[in-house]
Amino acid sequence: MADKGRGFNALLSRAREVGEFIRDRAERDEILILGHLDADGITATSLIAMLVRLMGGSFQTRSLEQLGPKELEEAASIEKPVVMVDMGSGSISTLSGKMGSGLVVIDHHVPERDTAGDVLQLNPHEFGYEGHWEISASGLAYLVCKAAGVNAKSAAPVAVVGALADLQDKNNERKLNSLNSLIVNDGIELGVVEEKEDLLFFGRETRPIHKALANSYIVPIPNITGNEEAAYILLNNLGIKVKEGERWRTISELSEEEKKKLLVGLMTLFADELKAQVMDLPFVGKVYNLLREDRRSPLRDAREFGYLLNSLGRTGRAALGVAICLGVRGRVLESAEEASREYSAKIRDSLNKVLNVPGAVARHGNLVVIRGEGIIDANLLSPVANMLSNSLMMTEDSLLLAFADQTEDTLKVSARAPETLVRRGISAGNIMAASASRLGGQGGGHPVAAGASIPKKQLQKFIELVMEQYERAASGQGQAEA
Ligand code: C5P
Ligand code: C5P
Repeated sequence: MADKGRGFNALLSRAREVGEFIRDRAERDEILILGHLDADGITATSLIAMLVRLMGGSFQTRSLEQLGPKELEEAASIEKPVVMVDMGSGSISTLSGKMGSGLVVIDHHVPERDTAGDVLQLNPHEFGYEGHWEISASGLAYLVCKAAGVNAKSAAPVAVVGALADLQDKNNERKLNSLNSLIVNDGIELGVVEEKEDLLFFGRETRPIHKALANSYIVPIPNITGNEEAAYILLNNLGIKVKEGERWRTISELSEEEKKKLLVGLMTLFADELKAQVMDLPFVGKVYNLLREDRRSPLRDAREFGYLLNSLGRTGRAALGVAICLGVRGRVLESAEEASREYSAKIRDSLNKVLNVPGAVARHGNLVVIRGEGIIDANLLSPVANMLSNSLMMTEDSLLLAFADQTEDTLKVSARAPETLVRRGISAGNIMAASASRLGGQGGGHPVAAGASIPKKQLQKFIELVMEQYERAASGQGQAEA
């Protein structure tokens, strides 16, 4: 890393500076940690909370869906020192000079501009690293914690959860790389994280095998997704035992032989549909186990932990997520699991509707457009877009655009682009920023995952603009300025 000639040392030194700043303020005042409400935001919030605790200070946390004009105005009236995590870099010009008691921004989104004014900013882009795969907000918060002496045995697993939940592992191996892998290595060295290749099914440690298969979030499996009975029959046909005595077995208990059998069985299900892509099905990759968590706990598999935090954040219970990251278990964990089940049911419901309401999925050239107005709750648009972006309706040229009602007059947009498009110079973040701002909306985000907010009546125009910019970028002419 350091030898790539990028600003690794400068990044660490900024992380130290951020730690010192927080120490200084924590000695005098309560710190307000303002975080994005998704899992990366919740984990980053929790890490900064660990830090403030270590310093003997006190903190309050608050989670926000976005940092829009209203939130920015509110932020300016806060009298405490503020640490913003997983947001803020896109609004530096508005924040600078406004926060009397000091502001730190720890964010991995592309910064709005080079200078941060009086805001102390820790952002990988400033040091030559990318925020969508090399490090996320929780990883940055981890670097701050590590430099300040927080116990890495507690901090590294939380940072790994944040990175995975942010989908920083979107590569063929499903591996955390670059700065993220430094955190993983810390965890491995301390004996609290394990990285190994395995079947990626969600619920590997916790769910009966047929349920894990039927609820696969990786790729919809023909005849199996949504159908536990069919999954059960498949396992029987393959000669894979589903129970050990009275107890359901889990995927993590399968022998190597059984795993192979299962993979072959799954591939044959796809064979009729899609011969060419069969071998690429992303069922195997790196899994990350948190070794201090009980086996059979949803916190053991770092991806499942992240999913739990996302469910909490997106159902208004981010504080429960922070408590769990800080080590609280028992009742809190039980109610988190309950919330997560409700959330899964809602997502399944949204997906079913999208796939069954005529016209909800439309294609415009290389755009796959999901018209989720009246079907998808705006809070669920992001996870639904993630799942659809992994589904077989997407090709390597497809840009996914999903819409939901945000307010009476505005639509929320989530855009997802595969890495293959990004390599061709197409950035979902740039396209969203440019298209939305031309229509009086606002947009931005990462090359692979972005979003926007646009006036409802501009929907058609917005789709046209996005198509235009896609073509422009694909033909190497660059993207129109916002
Ligand atoms: O704010 P923002 O960074 O939070 O959005 C992150 C969301 O974007 C993640 O929840 C994930 O849904 C998506 N994402 C993605 N691929 C990445 C990074 C993020 O799809 N490489
Ligand atoms: O909401 P969703 O997860 O789809 O957002 C993906 C990315 O787009 C996030 O990084 C988010 O910060 C960014 N975004 C944005 N402006 C919006 C909505 C999302 O910059 N109005």
